[in-house]
Amino acid sequence: MFSFDLQATDGTARTGVIRTPRGEIRTPAFMPVGTAATVKAMMPESVRATGADILLGNTYHLMLRPGAERIHRLGGLHRFMNWDRPILTDSGGFQVMSLAELRKLTEKGVTFRSHIDGSKHELTPERSMEIQKLLGSDIVMCFDECPALPADDARVAESMRLSMRWAQRSRDAFGDRPGHALFGIQQGGVTRDLREESAEALTRIGFDGYAIGGLAVGEGQEAMFGVLDYAPGMLPEDRPRYLMGVGKPDDIVGAVKRGVDMMDCVLPSRSGRTGQAFTRRGVVNIKNARHQDDPRPLDEQCTCPACSNYSRAYLHHVFRSQEIISSMLLTWHNLHYFQELMDGMRGAIAEARFDAWEETFHAERAKGDI
Ligand code: GUN
Ligand code: ZN
Repeated sequence: MFSFDLQATDGTARTGVIRTPRGEIRTPAFMPVGTAATVKAMMPESVRATGADILLGNTYHLMLRPGAERIHRLGGLHRFMNWDRPILTDSGGFQVMSLAELRKLTEKGVTFRSHIDGSKHELTPERSMEIQKLLGSDIVMCFDECPALPADDARVAESMRLSMRWAQRSRDAFGDRPGHALFGIQQGGVTRDLREESAEALTRIGFDGYAIGGLAVGEGQEAMFGVLDYAPGMLPEDRPRYLMGVGKPDDIVGAVKRGVDMMDCVLPSRSGRTGQAFTRRGVVNIKNARHQDDPRPLDEQCTCPACSNYSRAYLHHVFRSQEIISSMLLTWHNLHYFQELMDGMRGAIAEARFDAWEETFHAERAKGDI
């Protein structure tokens, strides 16, 4: 019902397929973020056309608006947003800590006020599991807590141990739901011993997949790669490994190289709305006046609608004019770029040429924009 088939490895990089009743997820996978039951500026069929196999949704946002019970009454999140493929939902704790007001953290869970209307709410491992079930999520994340870095070891250890107790409560509350998966989340900051302790705690409980949490929270790429040099290897080899909230294209490539199978990030969609385009040659800021007379596409090798049918001059114009199509075209292009990146890595790993692929990836970027 839910399975992970590891098909090839190249060094520590892996490629495979996650099978779910709602379809297959090719790994390494990039999950576009659909926080409020939409990948902003994109129709679901367009998101699919970029190559996405799975979307990410958010417990925190959906519980506040329009409400988990309402989505359940309306047939669940897939039907509500018209996406019938797999959805992974984050559990809410991380978003409470970054977005909510008047947060109070206890052993039981967290109480907070909504950033939307100030209303009072509580999230616990049990309630998070209930909400994710009401949404109909295919991959459910444990309820966890993630300290902002830098933080001292004692604080990181205390937080990680709380997350591990919550992981057990999440497991108990989730129960047995064939076809649906529950992922544990490793914490422990940038401290190897704490990462090890966390991995052992999670493995003892037993999950369908394992996330690496608590990274990309201000530690920098070098420190993150430092953790990724050992953290994936602490997690069971036969289960998917998901690096949460990452990242820029070079972060993604470095994570895949180190054994990560899944990632999510708002970067391609958010940047699309702020005029930043990701290309093989690096980031292009479409707002820049140097594009205003340029008849060439963003990337002549890209097959997305923005590059097939529109010039840089047009993209510059609609961005400057704050036309809605600007967000639509740039988001489409960015999601297409991220999915092509994943596809390139999957092919390279399958054919044991990841190092050569990576070298070309960096060499192209070093050339700079056309
Ligand atoms: N998103 C990015 N990092 C994290 C994390 O550590 N935990 C959760 N739940 N979500 C995240
Ligand atoms: Zn394009």
